[in-house]
Amino acid sequence: MGRVVIKYVWEIPVRVTHWVNVLAIVTLCVTGFYIGAPKTLALSPSQYVMGWLRFAHFVAGYALAVSVLARIYWSFVGNEYARWRVFFPWFTAAGRRKMLEVFRWYVFLSRQAPNEVGLNAMAATVYLLVFLLYLFLIVTGFALYVQYAPHSLMHFLFGWLALLVPSQWLRLAHHLAMWFLIGFVINHVYSGWLVDIRVKGGVMSGIFSGYKSMEE
Ligand code: HEM
Ligand code: HEM
Repeated sequence: MGRVVIKYVWEIPVRVTHWVNVLAIVTLCVTGFYIGAPKTLALSPSQYVMGWLRFAHFVAGYALAVSVLARIYWSFVGNEYARWRVFFPWFTAAGRRKMLEVFRWYVFLSRQAPNEVGLNAMAATVYLLVFLLYLFLIVTGFALYVQYAPHSLMHFLFGWLALLVPSQWLRLAHHLAMWFLIGFVINHVYSGWLVDIRVKGGVMSGIFSGYKSMEE
């Protein structure tokens, strides 16, 4: 075994936005699921169950929107592992080759586990899709929201979409996007764990501490 070096990879904004997103998304999934398939939980209307759950959904929705915008900003000013470029590995031949290598490992065609300082090419591509999914949920979410908030700034920004796309289509698309995100999270935690065990580079603890370890 070669000398092991410890590298600082994930800066504070990357880690903070990751965990704010996770908290917001858990809240949004639970409350969103209830909004879409409500049950009577209250004994009297004054308990305002649906009202509070929708309120929680909107607060978490704003938190997700601010956090995602902050992470996009950081992809222009952050370190090399946080840069927007890492999310487009297929732009170069070397990146495409790396994607194929990682893919071969995941489907048991290769024994070479991905061992990158930053993101592996496959993970980076999937995260790009996840960020697009975030933006989709935020845009459709606010387009639904503005129907309850006329004359607001958000109405100014998203009102046109509410006029253009019927409400039920927005709801269906918003709801379906939730299931895509849940599908990703199941795979995300599984593959993170798997890489952590196989590579022993501290992938999992990295998203808490910022550090990963590498063999030289
Ligand atoms: C709602 C749940 C989650 C979502 C939507 C999510 C999404 C993401 C995204 C988009 C990234 C890329 C971060 C960036 O560059 O800004 C990321 C990174 C990461 N996430 Fe999550 N995450 C979730 C939960 C978790 C959990 C529960 C864990 C661990 C127990 C975890 C572990 C990691 C790790 C280790 C990385 C570092 C990047 C890597 O090496 O692949 N995530 N996550
Ligand atoms: C991870 C992100 C999100 C998830 C998983 C999510 C999930 C959901 C779900 C499942 C519904 C019910 C749709 C239905 O079946 O009728 C819903 C409704 C809604 N969501 Fe989201 N949502 C997210 C983000 C947002 C954001 C960012 C906003 C912006 C404020 C938002 C605003 C709304 C609104 C206004 C409704 C309709 C509420 C009602 O008519 O009572 N959502 N959401």
